[in-house]
Amino acid sequence: MTIQKVGVVGCGLMGHGIVQVAAQGGFQVVAVEAEQKFLDGGLARIDKSLAKLAEKSVKDGKATAEAAQAKASETRARIVGSTDRKTLADCDLVIEAIVENLDVKKQLFKELGALCKPSTIFASNTSSFPITDMAQASGRPERFVGLHFFNPVQLMKLVEVVRTAKTEDDVFAQARAFGEACGKTAVSCKDTPGFVVNRLLVPYMAEAMKMLERGDASAQDIDTAMKLGCGYPMGPIELTDYVGLDTTLFIVEGWTKRYPNDPSFAVPTLLRDLVKQGKLGRKTGQGFYKWEGDKRV
Ligand code: 3HC
Repeated sequence: MTIQKVGVVGCGLMGHGIVQVAAQGGFQVVAVEAEQKFLDGGLARIDKSLAKLAEKSVKDGKATAEAAQAKASETRARIVGSTDRKTLADCDLVIEAIVENLDVKKQLFKELGALCKPSTIFASNTSSFPITDMAQASGRPERFVGLHFFNPVQLMKLVEVVRTAKTEDDVFAQARAFGEACGKTAVSCKDTPGFVVNRLLVPYMAEAMKMLERGDASAQDIDTAMKLGCGYPMGPIELTDYVGLDTTLFIVEGWTKRYPNDPSFAVPTLLRDLVKQGKLGRKTGQGFYKWEGDKRV
């Protein structure tokens, strides 16, 4: 693998996790944010997460306190933050994890296409937009893939590696190898709506919300049913809160527009109503449930 230096654009919910797992995988990482306060916020989250992981490895008897601390410090030392996109010019791989807005993403890749060295591989962490559209905008579609991580990135063990009709075999192989070096299991997928996970997960979450709307069962009972009946770590309603109601609505609405004849993409009324009320789930402290930090109360 020729990837050594990795750039991540966006240090928010997903971006900070990608920065961290890449650094844990031994890569030099440049984290780029538009404003210093967002960058500081993302780096503070990484510090907290690295401290948590160090604490856990001591608790589990996997490392001494000194070794765990040294590992966390080494990982942190591989990360550099910047608000200047020019710092991405010599990266071997640049991963985009910015706002889910296709025009903004395309504009970013157009800029990166002009800025980065010709060999740089580009990747998007989009959860719902066609990789092909961004690849085209970058001016180097053959060096473009989707690298879709899952929330929370530090704990979830999967990365979807998405190829378009134009992705070169070697680029795809390098992207897969990168994901695996970050400690993830990689699955391959074509550039289809929602790839593998969201294509199955989002309609399932929407179906659970429609069940709630009809009064078939309470949120608690739907969640308990899927946790105990299927062994899932979270039920679909709690998971919608965890992912964010706005994010979920955004994905479903985008698909509804693009695939108006597919009933599995219909938007639940309840989802729309709660988003209108600003109840976005864990991030606002209230969605279907009440939240304090990462915990449901
Ligand atoms: N960094 C480091 N450590 C962390 C952490 C982080 N970011 N977050 C939690 N931890 C630690 C906790 O401190 C805890 O440590 P401990 O065992 O020493 O107490 C440990 O990890 C386990 O965490 P929790 O006790 O909070 O909770 P759980 O054991 O219940 O696990 C979970 C939490 C991993 C989130 C689990 O509930 C889960 O797997 N939920 C489903 C998540 C999921 O489905 N994600 C995919 C969403 S879809 C998506 O992302 C796609 C997008 O495009 C929409």
